[in-house]
Amino acid sequence: MITIALSKGRIFDDTVPLLKAAGITAHDDPEKSRKLILDTNRADVKLVIVRASDVPTYVQYGAADLGVAGKDVLLETDSMGLYQPLDLNIGKCRMMVAVREGFDYAAAVKRGARLNVATKYVQVAREHFAQKGMHVNLIKLYGSMELAPLTGLADAIVDLVSTGNTLKANQLIAVEEIMPISSRLIVNRAALKVKRDQIQPMIDAFERAAQAS
Ligand code: PRP
Repeated sequence: MITIALSKGRIFDDTVPLLKAAGITAHDDPEKSRKLILDTNRADVKLVIVRASDVPTYVQYGAADLGVAGKDVLLETDSMGLYQPLDLNIGKCRMMVAVREGFDYAAAVKRGARLNVATKYVQVAREHFAQKGMHVNLIKLYGSMELAPLTGLADAIVDLVSTGNTLKANQLIAVEEIMPISSRLIVNRAALKVKRDQIQPMIDAFERAAQAS
C-alpha cells in the first residue's frame, strides 16, 4: 500500500492532474466529503487529507509514504528523513514583506528602526531580516496576518502573496520579495528504499507531468 498525504484546497486541486498523469484518480472530492482517507482507482494507493503544515510530519514518520507540501511549510519544518526529489511547479506564489499603505518602509529600514513584524513564517522572516542586517521583533501568528498592521499589532507582515487581492482588500502593499514559493513532492526515505518498485515510477510520472505543465 502507498499512502500520499495532501492538503485540501489549492494543493489538492493542483495535484489532481499530476495524480492523473501517474494513473491515480481519487474516488472522493475532499471539498465535498468529510472522509480523511480517500480510496483511489488503484487498490494499492490511498490519499490522506491533512492540514498543509502537517504534511511533512506524516511523511517524516512514515504514516504517509509521499506528500505534497509548499516550500513555505517545508522551510518552517525540520525536514529530517524527508527526500525532496521534485519541485512540482504548482501552488506558485511569493513570500513577501507587506506594510500598510502610506507606511514608509524604506525610510524605516534606512534609519535602522526596530520593526515589529507579524508572521506565520518565523524561520523565513528571521533569516531574511538577519541577512539584511535588520533588527526586528517577530510576532508569531497562525493566520489573517493582514490584520496585524491594521490594528497596530505590527508594522509589517511576512506572508504569501498570490494574486495580491488580499493585500489590496486590506489597504496593504508589498514592499519586498523574500522568495518565490511552489509545492514540492516529499518522500519518506525509508519507504523509498523498501517500496522503490511502487514509488519510483510515481516520482517519474510526477516529474514528467510537472515538466509538461
Ligand atoms: C494565503 C496568504 C494570504 C492569501 C494571499 O492565505 O496567507 O492571506 O493566501 O493570496 P492572494 O494574494 O491571492 O490574495 P491562504 O488562503 O492560503 O490561507 P491561510 O491564511 O490559512 O494561509
